[in-house]
Amino acid sequence: MRNLLSMEHLTTTEIAQLIRKASEFKSGARPFPQYNDQFVANLFFENSTRTKSSFLVAEQKLGLNLFDFETSTSSVQKGESLYDTCKTLESIGVNLLVIRHSENAYYDKLDNIQISIINGGDGSGQHPTQSLLDIMTIHEEFKRFEGLKVLICGDIKNSRVARSNYHSLTALGAEVMFSSPQEWQDDSIGAPYVDMDEVIDQVDIVMLLRVQHERHGSEEVDHFEAGHYHQDFGLTPERYQRLQESAIIMHPAPVNRGIEIADELVEAPKSRIFKQMENGMFLRMAVIDTILENRKG
Ligand code: CP
Repeated sequence: MRNLLSMEHLTTTEIAQLIRKASEFKSGARPFPQYNDQFVANLFFENSTRTKSSFLVAEQKLGLNLFDFETSTSSVQKGESLYDTCKTLESIGVNLLVIRHSENAYYDKLDNIQISIINGGDGSGQHPTQSLLDIMTIHEEFKRFEGLKVLICGDIKNSRVARSNYHSLTALGAEVMFSSPQEWQDDSIGAPYVDMDEVIDQVDIVMLLRVQHERHGSEEVDHFEAGHYHQDFGLTPERYQRLQESAIIMHPAPVNRGIEIADELVEAPKSRIFKQMENGMFLRMAVIDTILENRKG
């Protein structure tokens, strides 16, 4: 692995190796290697709290030199293309780029970039490190994937998390179902659409997705009724009561409290939302270490 662009490029063996390494970093069983001679730049063209911050912490724990790059003060503002920006950073001596961009599969235009790229999210395409940290969190909980029932609810059409997780969890043997308003369904992904209330007492994992208003048209935003959405597709206290004893709740966050999930359930006993964030930092360490190790070899 020299880049991480899409979950579709990873085998189940590679996924298992990354999860194992991240778990070893977390438990202290594996020391943190130090890459003091390597430079990394984080190029976030879309807003982020979790992904950017956890990459920053992971990079510092691995001893990388952080290259100061802010899209708002870079020559991107003068019209420089993503390709030219990356080529420039490569020429200057950066070894690794972490990129989040609003364009789906932006990385297709970066084929000629020789340094490594980690995709921090592309439009409604893929969010591979989110999917990997979700898989790590599920594995910590259940120690298996085969036969697990996963219900992913919400804005499927605009969600790179739904797309990445459907692909990888299905490959690992889980059964993935979607529940979504008609207008946010995407039949190209392949999961069956179900009525949340018909399956809520049978699933092992309920994954709520953020309503992505920034990807909706103004008419759609104007017509959105938060209360109706919460009643029809959100995790309400009534639905929480119907979950199996062993079931868990996940959300990639940021969370719209009271819309995707009732405010008081965000930190309920079955919630693993902040555990996902904790795991994200170790998982990102594992991805960076694996890529830089492969580069050395
Ligand atoms: N889950 C996630 O990608 O969060 P951020 O947008 O804050 O990075």
